[in-house]
Amino acid sequence: MRIDIITVSPELIKSPFEHSIIKRAIDKNFVEIHFHDLRKYALNKYGKIDDYQFGGGAGMVLMIEPIDKCISALLTQREYDEIIYMTPDAKMLNQQTANNLSTLKNIIILTGHYKGVDQRVRDRFITKEISIGDYVLSGGELAAAVLSDAVIRLIPGVLGDETSALTDSFQDNLLAPPVYTRPAEYKGMKTPGILLSGNFPEIDQWRHEEAIKRTQSIRPDLLKNDKELK
Ligand code: ADE
Repeated sequence: MRIDIITVSPELIKSPFEHSIIKRAIDKNFVEIHFHDLRKYALNKYGKIDDYQFGGGAGMVLMIEPIDKCISALLTQREYDEIIYMTPDAKMLNQQTANNLSTLKNIIILTGHYKGVDQRVRDRFITKEISIGDYVLSGGELAAAVLSDAVIRLIPGVLGDETSALTDSFQDNLLAPPVYTRPAEYKGMKTPGILLSGNFPEIDQWRHEEAIKRTQSIRPDLLKNDKELK
């Protein structure tokens, strides 16, 4: 998979890709990440990429021309399966969407800043808009890092233990069940006996029931919804 990230702050977004599972995925060529500094496509030598919004109002808007130049340059080089814009005014990221994106070959992620991008960018270029939650970040960079992490760890082979992504929270619209490790008892707090029994069918059943209980109590909405972003 190849991910091209267009940003006004390449330095802000690089570090999550330089550690742990994501770094290993890059080192082992499961994924290629390319950062594109929007200022390189600026309209003038001062790096102008934004302007005041028509109609008045606080906040600068990223202009269409630098973004057009950057995306168009990428499109001359290869086809992209999705051109994604990270923005709080979009449908929310979930595991189903991460699963679907992890099967794609080439994606572009455009990160917004200030008041966002000129609407015509969204109308012309963007094929999918994603929010990571009902709150506003200073820019889309951290959101793009979150999306990339959620997607990259699902690429087959990236996680050492192939089954571990399958048992994550949300893979079956359920939160993950509780987990325990040694010692079996700590200051009087005991590990549920079933987990020490060696009876794996019963352990699976217990985990499933605990996952349902936890989901019902914390996120009952998950039990109802069809969660895919359209
Ligand atoms: N940019 C700013 N806030 C965001 C959010 N919640 N999700 C995605 N992109 C964003």
